[in-house]
Amino acid sequence: MCGIVGIVGRAQVAPLIVDALKRLEYRGYDSAGVATVAAGELGRRRAEGKLVNLERRLKDEPLDGTIGIGHTRWATHGVPNETNAHPHFSHGVAIVHNGIIENFAELRAQLKADGFEFASQTDTEVVAHLVARELARGVEPVKAAHLALKHLEGAFALAIMFQGDDNLIIGARNGPPLAIGYGEGEMFLGSDAIALAPFTDSITYLEDGDWTVIRRDEVGIFDMDGNPVDRKRQQSLGTAYMVDKGNHRHFMEKEIHEQPEVISHTLAHYLDFAGGVSRKLDLPFDFAKLDRLAISACGTAFLSGLIGKYWFERLARLPVDIDIASEFRYREMPISPDSAALFVSQSGETADTLASLRYCRKADIPIGAIVNVRESTIARESDVTLPTLAGPEIGVASTKAFTCQLSVLASLAIRAGVARGTISPEKERKLVRELSEAPRYAGQVLRLDRQIEKVARELAHYKHVLYLGRDTNYPLAMEGALKLKEISYIHAEGYAAGELKHGPIALIDEHMPVIVIAPHDRIFEKTVSNMQEVAARGGKIILITDKKGASLSSVETMETIVLPDVPEIIAPIIYALPVQMLAYFTAVFMGTDVDQPRNLAKSVTVE
Ligand code: AGP
Repeated sequence: MCGIVGIVGRAQVAPLIVDALKRLEYRGYDSAGVATVAAGELGRRRAEGKLVNLERRLKDEPLDGTIGIGHTRWATHGVPNETNAHPHFSHGVAIVHNGIIENFAELRAQLKADGFEFASQTDTEVVAHLVARELARGVEPVKAAHLALKHLEGAFALAIMFQGDDNLIIGARNGPPLAIGYGEGEMFLGSDAIALAPFTDSITYLEDGDWTVIRRDEVGIFDMDGNPVDRKRQQSLGTAYMVDKGNHRHFMEKEIHEQPEVISHTLAHYLDFAGGVSRKLDLPFDFAKLDRLAISACGTAFLSGLIGKYWFERLARLPVDIDIASEFRYREMPISPDSAALFVSQSGETADTLASLRYCRKADIPIGAIVNVRESTIARESDVTLPTLAGPEIGVASTKAFTCQLSVLASLAIRAGVARGTISPEKERKLVRELSEAPRYAGQVLRLDRQIEKVARELAHYKHVLYLGRDTNYPLAMEGALKLKEISYIHAEGYAAGELKHGPIALIDEHMPVIVIAPHDRIFEKTVSNMQEVAARGGKIILITDKKGASLSSVETMETIVLPDVPEIIAPIIYALPVQMLAYFTAVFMGTDVDQPRNLAKSVTVE
């Protein structure tokens, strides 16, 4: 989603802003722009497409100024072109925005009636005109911005700058995140700590309904009534990480390869390997007393939650209600007072997941958040943060965050089983030992890259792919399909193998590769029967299994990817890797933008 940067600085800011915007590229965008005030005048450069185009513009037509705002735009209202790119101007006001102004049509009509002309198709432009309208009425800039904010409905993070004032940026937040960064005689605004990392590690996150007045040596934060509010200044973790690709071609490749290490860090946070026990957690609920657990999330995070459901129900006999967050938030699910809710999110900023959390907050049940960004809104609004220790995930396609989410969920399910008396000390020791082996097996699977690359070369020739799996491999089949479609743009669907006969089998012919995830488990034979059905109709099977599965399956396959024999509890973590690698290599063969696939955003901060 859109990224925002603002600097009230000492040096020339345009190159610094572009640099910070590069650190926000991972969020997804399709145009970009920067505006400064120099010699009292507003100037701006904008460009469609990647930041390299904006850099080219700035090289040809440099922009002076020690104050500026910048933006990467992920189009919502209006096509991604230069005219719709931010910053938007109106009579000496410059503005950048992340979010959606829901009442923009009504505001636009009012502003038009007041004589304001619109240059773009965006919802954002109304905000620039609203501020300008107040200025025209003789209101001074800070007050004008405050009055304009009061008209807005919807989700926004905003940065506003004024002609004639090179020492003032106004920021506001209602929904999408916005952070203030403190420097020495300079101040910053940014969508996240990663953007601000080169400048400062001293950060304050604005809360919903906050707006801020930033000058070189001064910061004020206020609520919508204009009362000053106190917000914690904290040291950001953003600077602790080097956000680069290392020797890898893409962030996604790097992140796939980081998995043995980050899975190990995450598991060690929740499990005491030496003692063979799951660590006691300071939870706002007692697993033993829960009658149900609600889990909600979006996309890949939802699929990790779905695998978690199998674990909680099987290992801890704890019923789980799970829903994608965009449905959860509106379907008015009755919530038992003896339940708790878990929200899973890499970014911790996903709008629908946050709204679902707030729905549960109203129902007054304890809330846990499995998040990768510990300073995120979802983390801050939950009663307990259960971190994934994946480190920053930059590739839009989630990989290491997913396997770390699984690591947390498996550990929690064990904890729940122990608390509810469904897991004996011996079983706990066994499960902890098995999980401790996940990083080693993940390392072994990464060494299958040449074979998986070969399969991907084939896959890249097809237009449609079906993924099948049973039990925890069913959500994994959906994850495989999601990965494939989001980065290779091949149409893919993930199905429960048992569901094949109820519809998707009609699609099977020689043009439809079917990827089957089938470790040799209790229901392996059932999946083999489904593969027979596919083979009988000319479908091309790519089987991902283990040594035992490969030796026992009599079905002819286009390719069989043989993983090590792994314990059942870690199978979803280990089998996630070939699924990610298949999507990755296929996308590389297709020549797509692997890390920033078209139309997608890393952090989905609007509905
Ligand atoms: C995963 O590859 C996707 N890019 C997407 O489905 C993602 O998992 C989803 O948007 C949820 O994001 P979150 O984990 O940051 O909440």
